[in-house]
Amino acid sequence: MALTQTLRPGLIQLRVLDFDKSLHFFKEILGLDEVGRTSDGRVMLKAYDEFDHHSVVLRKADASGLDYVAFKVANKEQLEEIKDKTEKFGYKTTEIAANTEQPGFGKQYKFTLCTGHELHIYNEVELSKDGPMIKNPNPWHKPPRGFRAVRLDHFLLYGPGIAEAERFLIEVFGMFVPEVCNTADGKRLAAWITGNNKPHDLAFVEYPKPNTLHHVGFFLQTWEDVLNAADLIAINHLKLDIGPTRHAITRGLSIYFWEPSGLRIETYCGGYTANPDNPQRVWDADQLGRGLFFFSGEMIPSFLEIVT
Ligand SMILES: [Fe+2]
Repeated sequence: MALTQTLRPGLIQLRVLDFDKSLHFFKEILGLDEVGRTSDGRVMLKAYDEFDHHSVVLRKADASGLDYVAFKVANKEQLEEIKDKTEKFGYKTTEIAANTEQPGFGKQYKFTLCTGHELHIYNEVELSKDGPMIKNPNPWHKPPRGFRAVRLDHFLLYGPGIAEAERFLIEVFGMFVPEVCNTADGKRLAAWITGNNKPHDLAFVEYPKPNTLHHVGFFLQTWEDVLNAADLIAINHLKLDIGPTRHAITRGLSIYFWEPSGLRIETYCGGYTANPDNPQRVWDADQLGRGLFFFSGEMIPSFLEIVT
């Protein structure tokens, strides 16, 4: 049972510039499985430990970036309730009919946050024919490959007005905010937000340009898997941003790098267990380097400046 109304971010659609190289990365290096193609040529993918039909969609485009993130909610009643609350909050919603935009997915509602990001909500989705075992289950049903990514985990979004976006996710999605970073004059600079026990389903950083993606995070099982990913990043000549390293914020163990179309990807393990009744952790903006990169304690310019 979910702690709140939203179960998790279950689907992300990404634009990629070099479709073939990016698809090779997502399948053979990150380790996702191809589920199929849509009639307009998008490719649907999932991680080996995910039950639902697919979680990642790649779309060939002239510029890399984020099309949208879709959140799975607990039941049909909550889907309608969240839709109504979204309208009352002030964001216009549009219905997407089942099995149109995303094969295997039921009805979705889409809307745009003040930060410029498009979000969707849905409840129904077909189970994958290639999901984890459920009868006397083995840890995995076929050997995980590449990074051995377990699941789509979280996103960091940059945009204007994140205090309002944070309020929306609390009031409408029923999420909570385990960790924040504030400027010296008390304004919100960043927030880590979740609807379950993960330290974050998504995070925001205040930024003037709307609808900006900083990174997509995929969960790995262990620190050894993070080191294995570091080897594969080097072997495949992918451009490293930083890591392997430790975050103090979320307490995750992490690497950031760029996939062939220039999307920043994070491979992540660990992290604390978030509970909605725990006190909120608060960072001062001048400590953010230490919060993000605990070992060096220093911010790296690329982390703040390079976004898609
Ligand atoms: Fe992250």
